Amino acid sequence: MWQIFVLWGMSQLVTGRCQCESGNSEVYAEEGSQATLPCVCRPTSLTAAVIHWTRGQKGTLWRKSRNGLEYRGAGGRRVRVPHSQVGVGEYSMYIHGVRTEDGGKYTCMVQDGEKHIFNKVTLRVIKVSVSPPEPVEHSKIKLACSVHPWPAGATVSWEHNEKTVNPKSSAYAFSTARVGVLEGKASESMMGNWSCVISSHGMKQGNAATALTVRGIVNPSSDSVKVYAEVGSAVTLPCVFSNGLTPSHPVWERLDAGGSILPLPPSLNRSSLPSFPFLPPWDVSVQMGEVGQVDGGRYRCSATVEGYSLAREMQLVTAHVLINEPSTQKATVTLTCHLSDTSEVTDWDWVLVNANPNNTQSVSSIQKGRVLRINRVTDRNADQWVCRFHGKQGVLGNVTYHPSQMSGLRGETEPEASSKTVLVFSLGFLLVALLVLGQMYRNHRRRKMILQYPAMETIVHTTANEREERERSRVKEDKTFK
Ligand SMILES: *[C@@H]1O[C@H](CO)[C@@H](O)[C@H](O)[C@H]1NC(C)=O
Ligand SMILES: *[C@@H]1O[C@H](CO)[C@@H](O)[C@H](O)[C@H]1NC(C)=O
Ligand SMILES: *[C@@H]1O[C@H](CO)[C@@H](O)[C@H](O)[C@H]1NC(C)=O
Ligand SMILES: *[C@@H]1O[C@H](CO)[C@@H](O)[C@H](O)[C@H]1NC(C)=O
Repeated sequence: MWQIFVLWGMSQLVTGRCQCESGNSEVYAEEGSQATLPCVCRPTSLTAAVIHWTRGQKGTLWRKSRNGLEYRGAGGRRVRVPHSQVGVGEYSMYIHGVRTEDGGKYTCMVQDGEKHIFNKVTLRVIKVSVSPPEPVEHSKIKLACSVHPWPAGATVSWEHNEKTVNPKSSAYAFSTARVGVLEGKASESMMGNWSCVISSHGMKQGNAATALTVRGIVNPSSDSVKVYAEVGSAVTLPCVFSNGLTPSHPVWERLDAGGSILPLPPSLNRSSLPSFPFLPPWDVSVQMGEVGQVDGGRYRCSATVEGYSLAREMQLVTAHVLINEPSTQKATVTLTCHLSDTSEVTDWDWVLVNANPNNTQSVSSIQKGRVLRINRVTDRNADQWVCRFHGKQGVLGNVTYHPSQMSGLRGETEPEASSKTVLVFSLGFLLVALLVLGQMYRNHRRRKMILQYPAMETIVHTTANEREERERSRVKEDKTFK
């Protein structure tokens, strides 16, 4: 019994009635993409049907004749109706690399016996253009969304990096001169993908996007960038313009919290950068040779590009280890990671770094937190402790502490040297004591006018003479009194 149903079903499939009807449809395609113009239809005889794709008055794009031959028209170099598809009664046409001028009306005609079915398709090509294509920051910019042909009653909205843009908000300072056109001043915050969305009757119909590049200062990427530097080390203050730009009159300034200009640290120097002689003209970074504790704060680099004055601020954050070292030998030493600005720091940890004989370093994690307590005796073999500070994006920087900086440790690490020192000091003390005693004894003898040590006498000759003088005068005085 079931075989009969299968046979019936198959016969229906082969001799089925035409499923398509004359109709209109609209297709939106982004310029450069592949557009699909639908034409799905199952004629009574797949082989005998004539299919004809035409565009307005411009004639044939694609055609299949009754004998099954397929033919591509002169205007159809970029169109394709896949053969595999034609075999199952689908005649949708693909236009590769669609162009604005491809927008318009197309017709797919299916001739099934005496019946002619017309399937009309309107192709609307959407395109976003930016002028100038790569604007310099602060220059005038125009974003335009074009749809060809323009759909009556459609609305245009914009998305920047997938967020809907309110052109009237102050964030971009755009004005909407015409439908689908945004005009304003190029800013670094406009970088990214701009997508124009076409809707009609509240339904999204299509969209097109473009990536916008604003030329200017690419590093630091914004005025809120922080540069971390260990006190005593060298740090590069970056100021890199877009490739190919030649900024003129670059100026570096240091600002106080209120924005007034402060004198620059003397070690700020461009020629000390490692790659200095080979820096391209668009890199006007400088190096601070030795960061001091007081050097943290706001810095600004500025230069002129194509007539526009561009500037970028950055914040230098200094880092050093605060050491709390009690005077007694046995006590622990407290190390605190100190930063001039901790607003970006989410996490602190201390790691122990030891140098290996094979010129590598091994790192072991010691403890979480900003404060580390170490024992100056048991922890003295470490090469260095490194405090790492982390932000949301990962490690921001680190500060190194060398245990050799601990006072009192030298005696512990160098016992031989220390005993020698003790010996030298003891001998010195003994010598001084002997000299003092000798002097006292000599004075005693001298009073008795017994000079048994002529050698010593010459050493203390002057004092002795003075003393003799005094003694003589005293004797005279005594005599006069008597
Ligand atoms: C912009 O679009 C491209 C391609 O779709 C994507 O790879 C990129 O991540 C997008 N950029 C942004 C900032 O969203
Ligand atoms: C900048 O640094 C270089 C190398 O360290 C040095 O030769 C030069 O004198 C420095 N210039 C100034 C102005 O400090
Ligand atoms: C270097 O020595 C350390 C231990 O002293 C060892 O763990 C490491 O694998 C060595 N590295 C190389 C490259 O030999
Ligand atoms: C500390 O920072 C320097 C420079 O960024 C880096 O080379 C070094 O590996 C860091 N040390 C540790 C232990 O993370």
